Amino acid sequence: MKPVHSLPVAAPLDVVRVREDFPLLGRATRGRPLVYLDNANSTQKPRSVIDQTSRFYAAQYANVHRGVYLLSQEATEAYDRARARVAAFLNAKSAREIVFVRGTTEAINLVASSWGRANLGPGDEVLISAMEHHSGIVPWQLACQTAGARLRVIPVDDDGELILEEALRLFTPKTKILSVIHVSNALGTVNPVKELVAMARSRGVPVLLDGAQTISHRAVDVQDLDCDFYVFSGHKLFGPTGIGVLWGREALLDAMPPYQGGGNMIELVTFEKTTYAPLPYKFEAGTTNIAGTLGLAAAIDYVAGLGYDAIAAHESTLLDRVLRGLATVPEVHLIGHPKERVGVLSMTVDGVHPHDAGTILDLEGIAVRAGHHCVQPLMERFGVPATIRASLAFYNTVEECDALVAGLRKCVQVFRG
Ligand SMILES: Cc1ncc(COP(=O)(O)O)c(C=O)c1O
Repeated sequence: MKPVHSLPVAAPLDVVRVREDFPLLGRATRGRPLVYLDNANSTQKPRSVIDQTSRFYAAQYANVHRGVYLLSQEATEAYDRARARVAAFLNAKSAREIVFVRGTTEAINLVASSWGRANLGPGDEVLISAMEHHSGIVPWQLACQTAGARLRVIPVDDDGELILEEALRLFTPKTKILSVIHVSNALGTVNPVKELVAMARSRGVPVLLDGAQTISHRAVDVQDLDCDFYVFSGHKLFGPTGIGVLWGREALLDAMPPYQGGGNMIELVTFEKTTYAPLPYKFEAGTTNIAGTLGLAAAIDYVAGLGYDAIAAHESTLLDRVLRGLATVPEVHLIGHPKERVGVLSMTVDGVHPHDAGTILDLEGIAVRAGHHCVQPLMERFGVPATIRASLAFYNTVEECDALVAGLRKCVQVFRG
């Protein structure tokens, strides 16, 4: 299957034009034009995604895989096309490797629970990193508790990068899986996942990559990454909430027991015994988020239409602008200085609590996140309870970057006089 993101993409990104595709970006908050810089949390939706979703409910709606009537057949075809679209997007070998789930959280829970049940035993080790999102920690903790296994953690250095020598040391004959975040949701670090995969593969250890923060910034080719599982959420890719993707190698998924039982995931049910549907349906019990899958496919079409090269070029201009601006405010301190990063910036401001800074920025119409960003162990590593996080997407502008810097300067003035 040809990866869609390898298609040639011509023009540089015309951000004024692009913003017109996002109705919400035109609104005001607190009487000011909205400056939306909370994209690592969730992204805004282009008109094509909104239209696709409402068109489905208004004109095409029926449940899938259950009806002989035309509407249901059409919905089923659209659902299957959405799966094929995701498969091509990730350069998966087959659409059977694409499991629709609620999001990244459910995808990791699915693997930890199902793969864990079949593969983890007493004394085994699950290797994760110190910069995992809580959804890359807690599901594995639960799986370890059930199996009598234990978590081992690759540490992070002061720049916010994984310490690879430590990773090497932490692989032992008991290591059963490596589960790592591809791009940090708190620091923006792009982890050297190919090196990590190579380390794991040479030891026969499968790898799960959490791509929740990757997918809006960079093309993902699961065959090129050579990992075993890749997971992401639709709502962070300009798509709907409540839909996400688990990609897994077919042989691994095939060997895993079901995650949830119910309708749709079965072949034959008797009171004595049940046989299961083939992939991917074995992992899609019950009625799934059909509208979400269609919206996700529309989001993928939208992003592919812009092209990741154009997106990366524009975001690099934005990142450069913010970093230069922040450097002019001495009271602002960035957490982490990774060599390779995306536009996700965690910071503290001398004398200003992150929540207060977030509130002042909000009054300026600037939406950022203040808190622990679901990475409490990472916050502890850096000795801060919380940070302000600004996160960029391709629809942001240099003027918005400047507004952030001006807003932070205002925070300093308000609190320090
Ligand atoms: C890196 C990472 N992993 C997992 C998640 C959880 O995603 P969701 O809430 O969509 O399941 C997030 C959300 O912020 C994230 O940034």
